[in-house]
Amino acid sequence: MLPCCAVRTCHVLVLVLCLSAAEDFDWTKNDRGSFYYGTFPAGFSWGAGSSAYQTEGAWDKDGKGLSIWDVFSHRKGKILQNDTGDSSCQGYYKIKEDISLMKELKLDHYRFSISWPRIMPTGIKSDHVNEKGIKYYDELIDNLLENKITPIATLYHWDLPQVLQEKYGGWQNISMVNYFNEFANLCFERFGNRVKYWITLNNPWSVAVEGYETGEHAPGLKLRGTGAYRAAHHMIKAHAKVWHTYDTKWRGKQKGLVGISLSGDWGEPVDISNQKDIEAAERYVQFYIGWFATPIFHGDYPQVMKDFIGRKSAQQGLGTSRLPTFSSQEKSYVKGTCDFLGIGHFTTRYITQKNYQSGHGSSSYFTDRDLAELVDPRWPDPGSEWLYSVPWGFRRLLNFVKAQYRNPMIYVTENGVSEKIMCTELCDDWRIQYYKDYTNEMLKAIKDGVNVRGYTAWSLLDKFEWDEGYSERFGLYYVDFRNKNTPRYPKASVQYYKRIISSNGFPNQREVENWKRKATETCSSSNQLLAAEEQRSTAANILRLIHDPLTSHMEMVTEVVVPTVCTLCILLSAVFLMFLLRRHN
Ligand code: NOJ
Repeated sequence: MLPCCAVRTCHVLVLVLCLSAAEDFDWTKNDRGSFYYGTFPAGFSWGAGSSAYQTEGAWDKDGKGLSIWDVFSHRKGKILQNDTGDSSCQGYYKIKEDISLMKELKLDHYRFSISWPRIMPTGIKSDHVNEKGIKYYDELIDNLLENKITPIATLYHWDLPQVLQEKYGGWQNISMVNYFNEFANLCFERFGNRVKYWITLNNPWSVAVEGYETGEHAPGLKLRGTGAYRAAHHMIKAHAKVWHTYDTKWRGKQKGLVGISLSGDWGEPVDISNQKDIEAAERYVQFYIGWFATPIFHGDYPQVMKDFIGRKSAQQGLGTSRLPTFSSQEKSYVKGTCDFLGIGHFTTRYITQKNYQSGHGSSSYFTDRDLAELVDPRWPDPGSEWLYSVPWGFRRLLNFVKAQYRNPMIYVTENGVSEKIMCTELCDDWRIQYYKDYTNEMLKAIKDGVNVRGYTAWSLLDKFEWDEGYSERFGLYYVDFRNKNTPRYPKASVQYYKRIISSNGFPNQREVENWKRKATETCSSSNQLLAAEEQRSTAANILRLIHDPLTSHMEMVTEVVVPTVCTLCILLSAVFLMFLLRRHN
């Protein structure tokens, strides 16, 4: 066994040198790029995920109350092309259909979230509990279990009841702690006999920063320099309270686990021989995942956050830090409230030191960190603007978590890649590559000694991608949103992910190389099927437009020209692929 660093000085270079844990697996030897053939531990759980607002639709059906996302997405100009999640994938009506997709993949688990306003329309239990909403989740859970798929339920994936926002200011207000606890308690009571994996909050970083600092997400507040820290403080307390409720009231009977899902990019120093860059990269990760994980595992915020925000607040002439503090009682209440840690991870940044002056009114979460983010222009970036494929960053992040929080049990709760292309493309070879490389880095991390128990591909279906609307598609399955029935079509990555699952990893080079060829073979026929369907709906649109004298030029372009070009491009790529495959055989 290689000696592990006793004193954690926390900078990245030291991590790289010290973290190689397993005897036969040297971190530095296999650095970046090389592929590791091997399998995951027996019992490793493979899954896919979704969230309520992103997939369910049925936003105002069967007694559901409004969430902050219903209201936010209905405001003009907030979401790209003014898309909304009103009907989305219609998951609310498609339990059986979607479970058959999961079965096709042979998933061990499915991660979904419970919409708070669907089962408590105002967010307050004493107002009303909506039995129809409960029935929907009952059915979903029962169907999953009947098909031997383990449900992993998230209690909060961003859809706060609107009433709580309007009455109290949402997560700016401490009263959310009790309201969230009441909601969680009801979920434990009604579903806990069948759900054994609970995630309290999904990606609180995003809720805090994008919901209360930049305002890009619901509720759209721009409380720079304070809003995010306050929201985060209340969310951490809410998480802890729910964990204690489960621990004292339900764990004995139900024997489940309660965790939290934290998202974070990896931050790599631009220059690994420059101490300032090393510290800036460390800060980047501490301000991301450490912001939430450090209180939960160690009882307080990372020292570096306290130092930086405290100093900058003083420079602004404030009497106290903009970062709230925990009392000693609160510290011990919050510490240790995690049975497993959910990790959502998508990408990496290079980080360098950059100073920001803190003047009156100019403070923000971003300037508090004193750093700049960079990307390598050679990194592939097939979809979302922020998402570069940097697989080796995943292994580093997982090792960071192991070192910082005493090797907790980890479930990867989100990992995946989007596409942003005009033409429908089911032959998603870049997604295949992404999943292959990222899961391989996760395998290396497990060999390093990181305690990863499961992996959740994000996402099962294309869906509403928050402020980007439907323009970014993360799904393993393509969803045709232009068709009222929102049919699903498998992308090539379905076949590929399925093989990773059935082999529980990457058995040997010959076999793995075959997977990609086989996956793209099947997708060309799905492509044809979808192209035919699109042709049919384009023809129907043309007929409709001909009969409508008020048809605008723009409509003509978006509803006729673009789809026609897309259809042609799919057909051409299908023909080209068939040609390539013939030659290959
Ligand atoms: C994290 C969020 O939890 C999820 O809802 C979203 O789809 C992904 N990031 C991709 O942006």
